[in-house]
Amino acid sequence: MKGNSYLYRKIHSLLGVLPLGGFFVEHLLTNYAAYQGGEEGFYEHVEWIHGLPLVLFLEIFLIWLPLLYHGVYGLYVAYQSRNNVNNYGYVRNWMFALQRITGVITFIFVVWHIWSTRVQIALGTVDQFEVGTQMHQILTNPLFYWIYVISIVAAVFHFSNGLWSFAVSWGIAVGPRAQRVTSYVTMGIFVVMTIMFLMSLNAFLDESFATAAAETASAVVRVLTVNI
Ligand code: HEM
Repeated sequence: MKGNSYLYRKIHSLLGVLPLGGFFVEHLLTNYAAYQGGEEGFYEHVEWIHGLPLVLFLEIFLIWLPLLYHGVYGLYVAYQSRNNVNNYGYVRNWMFALQRITGVITFIFVVWHIWSTRVQIALGTVDQFEVGTQMHQILTNPLFYWIYVISIVAAVFHFSNGLWSFAVSWGIAVGPRAQRVTSYVTMGIFVVMTIMFLMSLNAFLDESFATAAAETASAVVRVLTVNI
């Protein structure tokens, strides 16, 4: 049983970096295209992704299944390991706790985010080329805007600090100096990714994304009402 749980933990850890970490960076770049190129830049990126061969297969095996495993097993790990915090120094103690807290926030956010975007596209409520307008509608509500800001900071922290744990647990950062340098690098990643995500988020508030708003407004209201 102990041997099994070691293996489950290793799979959980690996999936957090690859493919989920890889997807997370790709997702950031898609959204950042909205900041860099506005509506046109964003949809060009969306079109490129949807043009990839076997896109549904890639989504299932590189996103949905790894996310399901990492998310559900992560909730179990977070629930189980509450007593381990004393094994760490002061800062690491906090990082350990924050890794778990941000995992739970990310879980709740990801379920809601997928529901209001990808699931609605699958149900045909929102066209894939109206998803920017959908985001515009959601973000113009201050409550949802701030939920997004908090969740983005939590998810990026979870990923960046997770890279530190990964480097330590897989023997990449072994000595105290290597672990300290890794802390600086991963916190640098946290700052850069957070800034880029928040710039992308604000790009969706631009009026250019509101163009199709009238057509999708009723769909968005329906989706949000289901979410509340
Ligand atoms: C969906 C909800 C999620 C939950 C509940 C969750 C939970 C957790 C937990 C509890 C850990 C700590 C494991 C440990 O220290 O043993 C962890 C580690 C990690 N997570 Fe997540 N996570 C979630 C989503 C994500 C996502 C979307 C990504 C990628 C962007 C990610 C990337 C990582 C990484 C890289 C680690 C470090 C792996 C390691 O310690 O070796 N997680 N996660």
